[in-house]
Amino acid sequence: MRVLYLFSVWLHVIAAIAWVGGILFLILVVVPWLRAGRRELAGAFLRETGGRFLPVAWVSFAVLLITGSFNLYVRGVRPGDLVDAAWLATPFGRAVVLKLVLFGSILVVSAVHDFGVGRQAAAAMEADPRSGKATRLRRRASLLGRLNALLALAIVLVAVMLVRGGVL
Ligand code: HEM
Repeated sequence: MRVLYLFSVWLHVIAAIAWVGGILFLILVVVPWLRAGRRELAGAFLRETGGRFLPVAWVSFAVLLITGSFNLYVRGVRPGDLVDAAWLATPFGRAVVLKLVLFGSILVVSAVHDFGVGRQAAAAMEADPRSGKATRLRRRASLLGRLNALLALAIVLVAVMLVRGGVL
């Protein structure tokens, strides 16, 4: 059981690195590079790279949910705890709930971005990068992307606190 648990935590951290690292690379490297006078490339580039990152992100989410649930199980958490006021009031209980709320928010923001606004923005930017529609959609997509980056930083902070006893 210990080997399985260690493997699960390792896989969990690798999945977290794949998603958080990908998001930060897009925001800190790719988008500034495109903004520096390569707008005509942006639509096709974001469609291609975003399209390839999408399965990486969603497979990471599935791995994080499965390994995260197993990690909680090994740490003695049971479904009943999530409705137990005394457990919910503990620092560890608060960390688990906060992490699940952040995870839910990340899934919603990612779904809207990946299957809606992000795709529409890439298509509009490819059709006419200077059109009002492309500008509007690009702004919305980048807002969602930045929101997800903030949520990513927040969930890793909560993860670090969860492992070390919980939220203050
Ligand atoms: C985007 C989603 C997620 C990210 C980025 C993430 C990230 C992390 C990281 C970096 C750690 C290691 C923290 C450390 O050792 O200091 C961790 C641990 C943990 N995560 Fe997540 N996580 C995510 C989703 C989840 C979900 C959905 C669950 C529960 C269903 C979960 C449950 C846990 C648990 C229980 C641990 C402690 C592992 C242990 O026993 O040491 N995580 N997470």
